[in-house]
Amino acid sequence: VPPVIGIVGGGQLARMLLAPAARLALPVVLLADPEDAAAPFCRDLIAGRPDAGGLRRLAEACDVLTVEHELVDLDTLAALEREGHVVRPSSATLGIAVDKARQRQVLGDHGIPLAPWALTDDPDRIAAFAGEHGWPLVLKPPRGGYDGRGVFVADDLAASRAVLAEVGGEVLVEPRLPIDVELSVLVARRPGGETAVYPAVETCQVDGMCREVLLPARVDADLEAEAEEVARRVAETIGSVGILAVELFVVDGRVLLNELAARPHNAGHVTIEGTVTSQFENHLRAVADLPLGDTAIRHPAVMVNVVGGDHDPLDHLPGALALRDVAVHLYGKSYRPGRKLGHVTATGDDLEEALRRAQGAAAALVEGSPT
Ligand SMILES: Nc1ncnc2c1ncn2[C@@H]1O[C@H](COP(=O)(O)OP(=O)(O)OP(=O)(O)O)[C@@H](O)[C@H]1O
Ligand SMILES: [Mg+2]
Repeated sequence: VPPVIGIVGGGQLARMLLAPAARLALPVVLLADPEDAAAPFCRDLIAGRPDAGGLRRLAEACDVLTVEHELVDLDTLAALEREGHVVRPSSATLGIAVDKARQRQVLGDHGIPLAPWALTDDPDRIAAFAGEHGWPLVLKPPRGGYDGRGVFVADDLAASRAVLAEVGGEVLVEPRLPIDVELSVLVARRPGGETAVYPAVETCQVDGMCREVLLPARVDADLEAEAEEVARRVAETIGSVGILAVELFVVDGRVLLNELAARPHNAGHVTIEGTVTSQFENHLRAVADLPLGDTAIRHPAVMVNVVGGDHDPLDHLPGALALRDVAVHLYGKSYRPGRKLGHVTATGDDLEEALRRAQGAAAALVEGSPT
C-alpha cells in the first residue's frame, strides 16, 4: 500500500504534483490555504500555515511529509522526525538547501566547485573582498530569496553599505561572474540512495527570474557530463530524497554551484513533456520510496514562463490553444505584473524553432497576440 503523502504548500508546484498523484492513485493531503493554486484539486486539504501547528496536523494525517516550498518551520520538522514521523527530504537536507551560505560551507568541503565567496555583515570585509576580486560584487541574503528577489549588484562600497542596511544582517558576497550560460540539473533520489539524474537543462533568467528553459542544454557533451556528475555528488553529499534542483553557472568552460532547491523546480517543468518521467512524478515516487522513472529525453523541449502583464492570461487561452504543438499550463493564480502565472512548453527537434514557438505562445497569453 503506498504511503499517504503530505505536501506542505499549495502553490503551482503542489498543483503539478497532483496530476501524477492522480494518475498513480497515490493518496495526497495538502497543508495549504484554501485560496492556493492546488487547493481546488485536493479533497484532503488541511487549511493552515507551515508553522508548528500546521505541520503537526499534517504529520498526523499522512505517512510521509514533503514540501513544495522552503518557507517551512524546520525546527518543527526536526522535532517531528525525532518523534518518528517520516520527512522527505529530511530537515537536515532542507536546512542546507534553504541557506546559500550553508550550501557553500558543506559542499566546498566535498569538492563541489564554487566561486569565491564570503559571508559577512562587515563593510571592511566587503571592501577587502572587492580588493581581491574587483567590483562589482553580488550580495545576497543567504535565505529567503526567490525569483531574483534578494540578488543585489553593488558597484562600490557605498552601494554595499546600502544593501547591508536594507538586508539588516549577513550577506553572501560573490564576484559578479562572467556567466556563459546557466544550467540546472535535477536529481531524483530515493531513501536507499537509488538516484536518477536528468539531462542538464539550460536556463535563461530575466531580471534574476527564470524565464526560459531548454532541454537539452546547448553545451558540449563533456560539460554536460561534468554538470550531471556535480549534481549527483551534491545530492549524495546532502542526502537528498525526492527532487533536488542544482543550479549551476558555466564560467570559463567550467561549472560552478549557484544554489540548490530540495523540491521540484521551475527548471524542471519542461520534463512534463520533454522526458519519459516528469520531475513531479519522480518526486512522488522518490518520497513514497517507489522505483524511479526514466529521466531520458522523450522530445527536445523548450519552456517559457507566463509572467503577468496587463491582462489575465485566461482571457487569451483560446488564442494560445489555437497554436500547434504547444502545451499550455496555467496555475489559476490571480494575475499581477511580474507574477509567474503559468508556463508553456513547445516540443520539437529544432530547439531554436521550438523556442520561438514557445515565446509566441507565452506572448499570446500575456498580450493577446503572438509576437
Ligand atoms: N555572482 C553572480 N554573478 C552573476 N550573476 C549572478 C550571480 N549570482 C546570481 N546571479 C544571477 O541572478 C540569478 C538569481 O540568483 P539566485 O539563484 O542566487 O537567486 P534566487 O532569487 O534565489 O533565485 P531563484 O529565482 O532561482 O529562486 C542567477 O540565476 C543569475 O542569473
Ligand atoms: Mg536561483
